[in-house]
Amino acid sequence: MMSKRSRKLVVEGGEKLIDFNIKAFKPAPEKGIEDAVEVMRSGMMYRYQPKRLEDSHTSLFEKEFAEHLGCGYAVATNSCGSAMFIALNIAGVKPGDKVLSNAFTFTAVPSAIHHARAIPVFVESTDEWGLDAQDLEAKVIESGAKVLLMSYMRGHVPNMDDVMEVVRKHDLFFIEDCAHAYMTFWDGKPLGRFGDISCFSTQSSKGLSSGEGGILTTDVQEYAGKALLYAGSYEKRWNRHHNMDPEIMDSLQNEIPGYSMRMTEIVAAILRPQIPRLFEIHEIHKANYRYLEPILDSHPNIWVPKCHPKAEYFCDTMQFHLQGFSREDADRFIELMQMEGLGMQIFGADRNARDFRQWHYLQGDEDVDLPNTVQFIEFACDLSLQPHLNQGHMDIIAQVIFDVLDYINNG
Ligand SMILES: Cc1ncc(COP(=O)(O)O)c(C=O)c1O
Repeated sequence: MMSKRSRKLVVEGGEKLIDFNIKAFKPAPEKGIEDAVEVMRSGMMYRYQPKRLEDSHTSLFEKEFAEHLGCGYAVATNSCGSAMFIALNIAGVKPGDKVLSNAFTFTAVPSAIHHARAIPVFVESTDEWGLDAQDLEAKVIESGAKVLLMSYMRGHVPNMDDVMEVVRKHDLFFIEDCAHAYMTFWDGKPLGRFGDISCFSTQSSKGLSSGEGGILTTDVQEYAGKALLYAGSYEKRWNRHHNMDPEIMDSLQNEIPGYSMRMTEIVAAILRPQIPRLFEIHEIHKANYRYLEPILDSHPNIWVPKCHPKAEYFCDTMQFHLQGFSREDADRFIELMQMEGLGMQIFGADRNARDFRQWHYLQGDEDVDLPNTVQFIEFACDLSLQPHLNQGHMDIIAQVIFDVLDYINNG
């Protein structure tokens, strides 16, 4: 553990140690900027403007992402929320149907279920913030729901052997929310390869970053065909997507509404060079995470739960539980960290959008009883570790956290 505090905190009139922006998001690679500018100069911003498949950044991005993930098809959308909504439609979810999902996730996930006019059935979380497979089975039996939309919140991976056993046993339609799970693996297999459909986000804090954007992936041609139609392809524009069978597309054409959820050429141009960059930033994330984790975990007020030995994380964020603190102490911790220039949040505090008790738009869920999730988000801190940071930054982050804890412990 680090030495005791040798400086005044900002609240005591001291100087800030933090001279970097912990939350700065990744810039677009130069090649992406150049290509996006060219797209804008040429006026070819709409994905179906280029007449040939090989001239469309969006079509090429879909092909390249499918190859990266090792899946059959990728359909680019304007957000992950759109991709999840489309996936629920493909799963055949109708208004009033029940959909199983994490109690601990971002509000976009229950919102996608709400968008489909379905009713979420929340499943408990573990202390490591993954879905609790045992509770999943209990909720499947209790609710009779046939669709699971599961988030890997902050890249945390539940025991996938257990989850898949429940999925297979009860023949669930499984949609993976991989918004936080680029380059994340279970037993060497990438997340996004377990479900019937997977959804990724390219919103700015994510592994692929373009402000807004999403990707739906699948191995099933019919699902891909439906997805591109739901996203807003019309007439014969499906021929601007790779590997689509004309017979299947002719049979689907005009049977599916188009919700105008397409990706633009500008976004796809920004994203394409980021696919190879994922490998590079994953190495930086892992180095930073592996360096910081044992330091933080050595503090008596901090518990960093260990990832399952079969799981490998993207490591672009770190979560830890504050231990031995009251609610007031925990709130004070976040406030003082903010003053130190190290913005953090606690999932279970301050009207956080990842706290299911805040999702008031879901009517009828006031009495929902999820004691484990409440317990495991109550003191769960969330630290962003973007790839512009290095080990020197990790030392400073740890020092500031320890200084603030010391201040709170000793008044
Ligand atoms: C876990 C999770 N799933 C889905 C989404 C939705 O992504 P998007 O903003 O691309 O719709 C988010 C957004 O941050 C998220 O955190």
